[in-house]
Amino acid sequence: MPENPKIKKLHALRTQSRLGGGESRIQAQHERGKLTARERIDLLLDKGSFREVDAFVVHRTHDFDLDKQQYLGDSVVTGWGTIDGRLVYVFSQDFTVFGGSLGEVHAEKVCKIMDMAMKNGAPVIGLNDSGGARIQEGVVSLGGYAEIFLRNTLASGVIPQISVIMGPCAGGAVYSPALTDFIIMVRNSSYMFITGPEVVKAVTHEEVTFEELGGADVHAEISGVSHLSADNEADALYLVRKLLSYIPQNNMEDPPFVPNGDDPLRMEDALNSIVPEDAGKPYDIREAIRYIVDDGIFFEIQENYAQNIVIGFARLGGHSVGIVANQPAVLAGVLDIKSSEKAARFVRFCDAFNIPLVTFEDVPGFLPGVGQEHGGIIRSGAKLLYAYCEATVPKLTVVTRKAYGGAYDVMSSKHIRGDINFAWPSAEIAVMGPDGAVNIIFRKELANAADPIKKREELVQEYREKFANPYIAAQRGYIDDVIEPRETRPRLINALEMLSNKRDTNPPKKHGCIPL
Ligand code: HXC
Repeated sequence: MPENPKIKKLHALRTQSRLGGGESRIQAQHERGKLTARERIDLLLDKGSFREVDAFVVHRTHDFDLDKQQYLGDSVVTGWGTIDGRLVYVFSQDFTVFGGSLGEVHAEKVCKIMDMAMKNGAPVIGLNDSGGARIQEGVVSLGGYAEIFLRNTLASGVIPQISVIMGPCAGGAVYSPALTDFIIMVRNSSYMFITGPEVVKAVTHEEVTFEELGGADVHAEISGVSHLSADNEADALYLVRKLLSYIPQNNMEDPPFVPNGDDPLRMEDALNSIVPEDAGKPYDIREAIRYIVDDGIFFEIQENYAQNIVIGFARLGGHSVGIVANQPAVLAGVLDIKSSEKAARFVRFCDAFNIPLVTFEDVPGFLPGVGQEHGGIIRSGAKLLYAYCEATVPKLTVVTRKAYGGAYDVMSSKHIRGDINFAWPSAEIAVMGPDGAVNIIFRKELANAADPIKKREELVQEYREKFANPYIAAQRGYIDDVIEPRETRPRLINALEMLSNKRDTNPPKKHGCIPL
């Protein structure tokens, strides 16, 4: 059969569009150790599921002779496909076309799929690799960014938004990823900053490399801007798939139920001895979490940032849960500015997307110090308190050891709508630890004692026996039950299932005023 010339033309145009900026730029991209926009999409989505839109779009700019450089599809590839059979929308910036820079039509393409994602209730994944605003298009590019920022904000809490940074992401361009729920960065080939090393040098005389200023490790450990890091692009894309497996398609759905072979009634004897006898000794809360959750799989988020609090996803009896846990192995699990903000954001994400919260509590209180006070620990701690208070998803708490002071209230206590609050027998629930309490309430007795050291020991012991236990809180009903650590898994799963039809609401309002 002779080939229809119109169909032949279609195929030719498609081939041209797929080539982006052309063979030599594709080769240059590969030589930088980076994949192309389309190769990334192929790795991210289920095989053969990608459906592209706007492959024939071209820019409309004449300035700087730009009309002589037209690339079909311009500098971003957009469309939809599936991940584990579930619909997702994707945009993937094409560095081979004008350095992936964002002009009018690039922005229009991104906005189009964001609008579709909102209408159809599915996540948006952005693969970022761009020189920023297309300089030749001037303010039109800035307008394009703002259109995206607006959509990021309106979509926040409605559909999950995930950003993967796979190359440059600089200037105001960083604010689209920053408005999304999760940022994943690739080590050694991606960076994010407001102004690059040259501007920094000119303004502050500091000399830094791209990696030192805004590389993956910097944002994972120091700034807390990113949530996950990967050694290469394939791993980064795999992390997107893994993350989505815990998250619903939108705020009207429940997260996926993933049955597995781990017995919901499984007891774990090792938990009975995980908390050291000496209340001053550390232990790794992640070890306890792994004993409790399905198949020992805990997907930790921001694991290298503010390590005194641990956040992440896991499953209990197949149900997706968000875990927040004080980490006694780092700074005794104290709450400070960074850990409060890290946990607050995570709590709000889980609440927005119907993911029940499980809180493991072992916290001596908020961190004292001039630096913390002057840095606004009051405001930061209030963010965590606010996040827990407003959350209406099922909230389960396990006090493993210390629950002292304001931190007791903050960490999903009964008083702020904790649904089921358990304590292990090792729990110490009081206004403050025995040493601090004795110093304050027995100051005069200690000053007048014949043997102050002995007297102090006696008083500390007395206080410990009286207050440093879970039973006073349990007498009041602030703790629903004191449980053996080994039975934590079955008790949590049972409570989750009991709460599966939970309904709770907040008063109608435009929005709350979280202390930002
Ligand atoms: C137009 C751009 C571009 C841009 C890169 N290119 N950035 N074209 N607008 N912003 C083009 C280059 O001209 C080049 O075209 C191709 O992309 C690849 O760029 P190279 O410089 O050869 O690549 P590389 O050496 O890897 O350097 C990448 C880079 C550098 C670090 C991103 O290109 C760069 O510094 N670009 C400018 C970054 C910038 O200042 N952007 C504006 C930021 S302000 P050819 O034809 O040679 O292949 C901003 C504001 C947003 O984004 C505000 C939102 C509110």
